[in-house]
Formats: sequence, structure tokens, C-alpha cells
Amino acid sequence: MGVKPTVLKLGGSVITDKNKPSTANVDAIDRLADEISSAKVSSLILVHGGGSFGHPIAKKYNLTEGYGDPSQVIGFSETHRAMTKLNNFVMEALFSHNINAVVVQPSSCVLTTGGRIQSMEQKPIERMLDMGLVPVLFGDAVLDSEKGFAILSGDQLVSSLAITFGASRIIMGGDVDGLYTADPKVNASAKLIERVTLEELKNQKHEIEGSKAIDDVTGGMLGKMRELIPAIEKNIQTLIVNATKPLRVYKALREEEVVGTIIKKR
Ligand code: IPE
Repeated sequence: MGVKPTVLKLGGSVITDKNKPSTANVDAIDRLADEISSAKVSSLILVHGGGSFGHPIAKKYNLTEGYGDPSQVIGFSETHRAMTKLNNFVMEALFSHNINAVVVQPSSCVLTTGGRIQSMEQKPIERMLDMGLVPVLFGDAVLDSEKGFAILSGDQLVSSLAITFGASRIIMGGDVDGLYTADPKVNASAKLIERVTLEELKNQKHEIEGSKAIDDVTGGMLGKMRELIPAIEKNIQTLIVNATKPLRVYKALREEEVVGTIIKKR
């Protein structure tokens, strides 16, 4: 493989209205597609979250618990369907900004064991990158060898893709400026942590706080951080930025100075 890819995640809290079921934030999606297009990154993998599309349905059918009852099977279909609907909004925006995007649906190419990625069809994504295509993946309902099925978060995907394809860096676009010393949504004295090492995080010098949506079945900011650790351990620099604010994602992609949190191994 040639150039090391950048892995960018667009959080569900950014591209959907988390308070309204199955409502896409089309303005934010369009602006982000524009930013991605203008940044002209030479090799990019895009992952997006579920927000108000995936999470409420997965929760309704208790999908994170795995298969326990035949009545949940329709929930698997519905969750995946909801995600493809959201993905359509993203794809349309990417196309309208001339990005060579291709959908890679995790339900068809990823298997998990106990909720953890066990295998992922790697070759097609590798070839897409070589061809200058931008693979677009999303948090999805997937088949699981222990639990029957599982909900695979976009965050776990990001970490796994970054490691598998030797990414140069990860950019996490969420709805907060970065990691804070306390939850900025409830605590006014919360301070943004601009740089932090994995060691410091592990020693819990910083309380990791951030977005904690009630319907988030895959773990909020703490869950996100836990998922990213394996990639950071492999020296893949991770940057958390606020994708709800214009040009943050653009600057991050361009490797310009930007408000956010940089997490390095040391
Ligand atoms: C969740 O993906 C996918 C489903 C619930 C099907 P994420 O966990 O990555 O989504 P966000 O970014 O937190 O909304």
C-alpha cells in the first residue's frame, strides 16, 4: 500500500439530531462533506456513527445483549436499515462534493466474537485505497459468533481500521471540543485538555468526560477512549475535534493548528 491513510470518524451526535428519532442533520453533513473535499487528503477512510438512527432501535430490541429471542431478529434488520438510511445522506453529500466515496457495510464484511471484531474483509478496502477511493463505513449491527449478533460501534471500527491499514492518524469528530477535565455540558469550570499521553490517561490524571447521550448504546466518551487505546498504543496519533464547529475538521485534515485534544502514546 502507498500513502498511509487518515481515518476520520463523524460522530452520530454531529450528523444527526440526537433528540429526534431518525433525523439527519443535513446542513452539518453537507458542510462536513465540503470540508473533507476541500482538504484534499490523499488517502482517507471515513467512518460515521449512528446517532438518532442506530441507537434507539438497537436499544428497543436489546441488541447489545445479543440474540436471546426470535423477536429481536427484525431489530437487527431495522437497525441496519436505519444505518443505511443515514449513510445515504452522507453518501449523497460526499458525491455532491465530488468525493470518490464507496460504501462498505460492516454487517456484510465484519464478524465479531463477544462484541469484538474477529474478522474483517480487508482486501477490498485495501484496493479501494490504492485506487483513490474513499471507503465509507459506519457503526452497524453485525453477526457475532458468541452472542448471535452485536452492535459494532464506529469507534471500534476506527481503531481496527487504523491498525489494519497502518493509518498515520485518527481524527474523531464529535460534538465537544475534545477531552475535558470534567463534563463541559454540566460543569462550567471544565477545562479542555489540549495534549495528553496514553500514560497520563491510564494513570487517570485526567477524568475523561464528554458527551453522554442517554440513548448511546456504545458507551459515550469513555467508551470511545477505551476503543481508541489499541490504536494509540501502535503510535497512531489521535485528534479529537468538535465537528459541529465549522472548519475544525478541515483544519485537522490539513494538519493545521486546531482547537482539540491530541492523544499520543508518549
Ligand atoms: C452506533 O455507532 C451504531 C448503531 C447503534 C447501530 P456509534 O456508536 O459509532 O455511533 P455514535 O457516533 O456514538 O452515534
